[in-house]
Amino acid sequence: MQYRRLGKAGFDVSVVALGTWAIGGKDFGHTDDRDSIKAIHRALDLGVTLFDTAPIYGSGRAEEIVGKALVGIRKDVIIATKCGPVEPRPGLLRMDYSPKGLAAQVDASLRRLQTDVIDLLQLHWPDPAWPIEDAVGAMARLVQTGKVRAIGVSNTQPEELQRALAAGPVVSVQEPYSLLNRDFDKELLPLCREHDLAVLVYEPLARGLLSGKFNPKSRFEPGDVRATDPRFKGKAFLANLQAAERVATIARTEGLPAAQAAIAWVLAQPGITTALCGAKTAAQTFENARAADLALDATTLAALDGILA
Ligand SMILES: NC(=O)c1ccc[n+]([C@@H]2O[C@H](COP(=O)([O-])OP(=O)(O)OC[C@H]3O[C@@H](n4cnc5c(N)ncnc54)[C@H](OP(=O)(O)O)[C@@H]3O)[C@@H](O)[C@H]2O)c1
Repeated sequence: MQYRRLGKAGFDVSVVALGTWAIGGKDFGHTDDRDSIKAIHRALDLGVTLFDTAPIYGSGRAEEIVGKALVGIRKDVIIATKCGPVEPRPGLLRMDYSPKGLAAQVDASLRRLQTDVIDLLQLHWPDPAWPIEDAVGAMARLVQTGKVRAIGVSNTQPEELQRALAAGPVVSVQEPYSLLNRDFDKELLPLCREHDLAVLVYEPLARGLLSGKFNPKSRFEPGDVRATDPRFKGKAFLANLQAAERVATIARTEGLPAAQAAIAWVLAQPGITTALCGAKTAAQTFENARAADLALDATTLAALDGILA
């Protein structure tokens, strides 16, 4: 495993992190909590130190599983969770960026995670009804209480990021980035470099597409986010499958699984701190974590770069 500094937060994180949305058990099809805990423990064995979660992943279940799996080893890991959207009851999403609401959300996350401090608290996404300056200001005050060590934002437009940076000590951004989605390169990445922000990228496998395991007949159970994701429908799905096949072919020439090549490509891009790799099983964790130690040569990286051409 390799480690990189989480920007101005002052602590290091593994370059492959475990994303825990899927282990919430609601949005990526069925999961078994025992498999989820095994996936977390396998990640730890492989040197993964960063675990990314959120209150809304499985209506709190993902945070609970992370808390349970990390009992006794809390001080050795970095827990990143989120705030903003809340679920007053399962299936009903409401935004609450008020200082009181954010403080209550943090207290609830601390309870579920069985810890007394959140290493990185991220605004899950900005909401136009709540000025980002106020939310970041409230998050900064939670740092002063000692319940949070550092704060970050996610899913921001460049202009929102600038406003967030002016309002408080934001150390990180979290955005989607993969061989299939490079929008982040355009405006946000240069801004992150300019402000020495840590970059946590999500969907490095494009929700599993870049593992190469899907085919035109692949179907997803109701409730799986991929069942309604336009990337998994019609012509777009066929084009994505072709791109994934190109990745798999390039990976094969290196003797690698496609998922590892896709994650290693992300990690080779300048400015990226860590790839949040979602996984439901220990086998997936293993395959993904191994990408951290790969150094793809320039020819392979260029070939991967060209898969959308
Ligand atoms: N800030 C945000 O708004 C935001 C949004 C999305 C995600 N995230 C974070 O980023 C993390 C990663 O994103 P993601 O989970 O959406 O996408 P991802 O990492 O691209 O894909 C994860 C899914 O792909 C499949 N998979 C993973 N490794 C595999 C492997 N080696 N071989 C085959 N299939 C594999 C698994 O699902 P199956 O086995 O069911 O195929 C897994 O749940 C999340 O867990 C979350 O922590 C944040």
